[in-house]
Amino acid sequence: MKHILSSEQFTREELEEIFDLAEKIKKNPEAYKNELDGKIIAVMFYEPSTRTRLSFETAALKLGAKTITTENAGEFSSAAKGETIEDTVKVIAGYADAMVIRHRSDTSAEEAASVNKMPILNGGAGKGEHPTQALLDLFTIREKFGKIDGTRVAVLGDLLHGRTIHSLLRLLSLYENIEVYGLSKDVFALPQKYIDMLKARNIEYKVCKSFDELPKDLSVIYHTRIQAERFEGDFGKEEFIINKEVLDTFSSNTILMHPLPRVIEIAVDVDDDPRAYYFKQAHNGLYVRMALLLRVLNKA
Ligand code: NCD
Repeated sequence: MKHILSSEQFTREELEEIFDLAEKIKKNPEAYKNELDGKIIAVMFYEPSTRTRLSFETAALKLGAKTITTENAGEFSSAAKGETIEDTVKVIAGYADAMVIRHRSDTSAEEAASVNKMPILNGGAGKGEHPTQALLDLFTIREKFGKIDGTRVAVLGDLLHGRTIHSLLRLLSLYENIEVYGLSKDVFALPQKYIDMLKARNIEYKVCKSFDELPKDLSVIYHTRIQAERFEGDFGKEEFIINKEVLDTFSSNTILMHPLPRVIEIAVDVDDDPRAYYFKQAHNGLYVRMALLLRVLNKA
């Protein structure tokens, strides 16, 4: 059974297959409109979502599948009565052909997949992983630069709790000549296990203290929101805000990415800059998720 659980599961070859398929779908989505006729995709989100849930649902519909979904599953599904993820999956497997899950627990996707009754796609697991976001991030980088080898990225924001960052770094580490710079408040520093993972793959993680310390010819600046819902206490606001003035200190080839939602970390005055890629990035999520649904349902 094929699941999409973690960025760790992919080889470079598999990534290229997924990106090639997503690219083909993006060029001609109509050609795929009946691929999943008769299939039902369950979409169980126990945490808030806009893009991931709606792009997965749109992906299913554009492929001819139907969706069943419970918004705010934590409150409106039987989880509120104490049902385990495993029991929920055993039941839903009787209705649906695949299930997308987002949950506050870091191990939720693995728990869902352990039932092994239908393909599970991890739509975000606590502060652990968000592999489908990382896939669309890399797809966007490949689309812009024509390759992923040689990407020089700065990650900003909440590197401690940000699952999109964790999944992105895992995927990037599969490529050659990757450079990674981190710029965040100390309280949101990247966990050591990701620094060690990068090091084991010969990537040095360079901690920076200000925008001035970042190379000006980065390929990607990847900002993220402080994940206030994932910790107790008040660690203050984001200090490294990207506005037009800051962005203009970087190369005209540097792209600015963000998984969204944005709060204050990117000023709206950069939205019209050709380097602002976050809305394009979110749009690419549709094609990558279409490719992933085809893949787990053996239609790729
Ligand atoms: C992210 C998430 O849910 O982890 N959003 C998304 O899926 N695009 C980022 C976030 O919530 O900050």
